[in-house]
Amino acid sequence: MQKPSQLASALSRPVTPTRRSKGKVFLVGAGPGDPDLLTRKAERVIKDANVVLYDKLVDDRIVALVPHGTELLDVGKDPDRHKVPQHKINELLVRYARQGKAVVRLKGGDPFVFGRGGEEAEELMRHGVDVEVVPGISSAVAVPAYAGIPVTHRDYASSVTIITGHEAAGNRLQWEVLAQLDGTLVVLMGVGTLAENVSNLVARGKDAQTPAAIIAQGTTPRQKVVVGTLSDIARKAKEADLKAPAVLIIGDVVKLKHILQPDEDASNHSA
Ligand SMILES: C[S@@+](CC[C@H](N)C(=O)[O-])C[C@H]1O[C@@H](n2cnc3c(N)ncnc32)[C@H](O)[C@@H]1O
Repeated sequence: MQKPSQLASALSRPVTPTRRSKGKVFLVGAGPGDPDLLTRKAERVIKDANVVLYDKLVDDRIVALVPHGTELLDVGKDPDRHKVPQHKINELLVRYARQGKAVVRLKGGDPFVFGRGGEEAEELMRHGVDVEVVPGISSAVAVPAYAGIPVTHRDYASSVTIITGHEAAGNRLQWEVLAQLDGTLVVLMGVGTLAENVSNLVARGKDAQTPAAIIAQGTTPRQKVVVGTLSDIARKAKEADLKAPAVLIIGDVVKLKHILQPDEDASNHSA
């Protein structure tokens, strides 16, 4: 495992502009938690890497797959406590690639679903670094699935919309449009703003009795599921002391949970 001094010294070395070398960065999705949801390709590039930089959301059991001797850096970010700023992560990726290394940038879920993978890929391309994306299973679909909620179903929802519940910029989400959608709404990063987001939808016309479920630590042995409606999901989540990371699912597909996985405690993880 990485020693704290390893990261500190890696960060303190400057990025020197050099010519393009054979190094490459793999932007790899680690899936939502359950190590069995890691793709075979992800596992292969992790095993072949010279250096792995991983995020907070990557499950410990997946980090443990990194071979002994591979340089391992925890660049995990906390919303309140930015451990390693994004520009520093970018610098590290560029530097390691220019040293000719096979670099794995390991992220929770899929790197291109609210994972800043697109931004990192752009930055690497700007610096002439080879990049390959290894998609992962996103929590947006896998976490509901493990809890018995299909995000679409011919009888309940013909579309699914994935949004961030934590919008740094403030008002880019069109709540009045979201409130009118007939399909499933999946909200990531929405624990802190749960009550606010739910009232936004109801205030703009969404039926307060619309089924809703919130699932924390999905696909892991710590999975916690709370089911309700828009009118009571925030209260129920608070009572259950539900904490991030969690996925909120809004829509009629939530009704299927009682059929597909009636036991609240039952989960199909294999850990
Ligand atoms: C920065 S986003 C990254 C999403 C990730 N790229 C993906 O495709 O799943 C982080 C959010 O993903 C969701 N998330 C990721 N893993 C989760 C899990 N195991 N259980 C519940 N929610 C999860 C939460 O909404 C969390 O706040």
